Amino acid sequence: MSERPTKGGSGLDVRAVAARSLVPILTDKGSLAGLDEHSVVARDRALLKELCYGTCRRLPRLQALAQRLLKQPFKKRDADVQALLLIGIYQLLYMRTPAHAAVGETAGAARLLDKEWATRVLNGCLRRLQREADALQAEVDRDESVALEHPQWLLGKLRSAWPDQWRAIAQANNEPGPMTLRVNQRHNDREAYLTRLTEQGLSGELCLHAPDGITLHTPCDVTVLPGFAQGHVSVQDEAAQLSAALLGPALAPRPGAHVLDACCAPGGKTAHLLEQFDIALTALDSDNQRLARVDDTLARLGLAAELKHADATTRDWWSGTPFDAILLDAPCSGTGVIRRHPDIKALRRKEDIRQLASLQQRLLDNLWPLLRPGGTLLYATCSVLPEENSGQIEAFLARTPDARATTPNDVAWGEPSGPGRQLFPAQNSHDGFFYARLEKQTA
Ligand SMILES: C[S@@+](CC[C@H](N)C(=O)[O-])C[C@H]1O[C@@H](n2cnc3c(N)ncnc32)[C@H](O)[C@@H]1O
Repeated sequence: MSERPTKGGSGLDVRAVAARSLVPILTDKGSLAGLDEHSVVARDRALLKELCYGTCRRLPRLQALAQRLLKQPFKKRDADVQALLLIGIYQLLYMRTPAHAAVGETAGAARLLDKEWATRVLNGCLRRLQREADALQAEVDRDESVALEHPQWLLGKLRSAWPDQWRAIAQANNEPGPMTLRVNQRHNDREAYLTRLTEQGLSGELCLHAPDGITLHTPCDVTVLPGFAQGHVSVQDEAAQLSAALLGPALAPRPGAHVLDACCAPGGKTAHLLEQFDIALTALDSDNQRLARVDDTLARLGLAAELKHADATTRDWWSGTPFDAILLDAPCSGTGVIRRHPDIKALRRKEDIRQLASLQQRLLDNLWPLLRPGGTLLYATCSVLPEENSGQIEAFLARTPDARATTPNDVAWGEPSGPGRQLFPAQNSHDGFFYARLEKQTA
């Protein structure tokens, strides 16, 4: 996004910018990662984020309502006007925006998109929604995937994989996740840091399962976190923090252990391992831009690793020295973190799951021989789909005679799922995640 603030009132500006930001998502050409909050004036940044993230979060239902409201669909080239309609519906049904702003400013924003003709259509649709909200909502909600605001294929997969939990998973996906911190044990323990937060007027509580975690009661900008710039704390979900504890038995007794973080960017788990253990870490990622973020994070935290831009399905980057431990935080569907990346609802396709599972399989098969006998590989995903998780690891164990699952049972988080443990996204708590710990048998 490179748009600068336009010349309308700020209410029109922010809605026009939000509409333009949603176009790549509606046309399958980009994600919310491209959202540039600086394209609106400072006081509108929170609103811009809410409009974009909220609209994606509710997208299946907003699209169904838009379809009812329109006599005929907009042309493909008018995806920005479609986005304005979705934004308008979102404000009327999910935000406390006064109706005159939700309708008038949203319709008026069409002028800033140079589509004056659309103001009348948008006005008409949104006014009709005001009059007929209950009936229209009841009508679209007859379709369960619309009512639960998920694409049909995904809800179907959740339902068949998790007959008892699918509804709760879908509901958790629809609420924003909390902001969770990871306290850097090299600087302070989390109890001391919680006191520092309180002194700063911020409140939070200790995470139940992650020993370095604090969940804030209200999210805030990282710049107000005490010692953030000095590396005293980072933002990381509680489930993501569990990888360090799971690798603890392999790393704590072996100072200097040779460790590979095979899919490391943006570096949350890389940094956590380095905060916890004195290890020689090679951190690898195939995405150079994302790898640059690992560099920034390690610099802020005063930590060091050997960073490599490479493809972990190949071995041309490998020195030949076997690793004592490998973290494979594999690329996945992200179906456990939809609440943080709600554009997944629009961007992910059913066919992606098979392709991702195949990539995960190639990563596992390529990396396993790089582990020394007796070494540990921790497989992680932020997915809740068994094809990427328990099923993936069951198949790996079946074709890999020297691999044995050592995922602990005596933990209070998640639930056993084949050779690993599955966490589901939980409201006001951790994201959805899967972990399986594997040990390489000595001959
Ligand atoms: C789930 S993210 C990793 C998150 C990271 N471990 C953290 O905690 O911040 C998966 C990463 O895998 C990387 N990736 C995807 N395919 C890869 C491949 N063939 N080789 C190496 N990295 C890959 C992606 O660029 C992405 O950064």
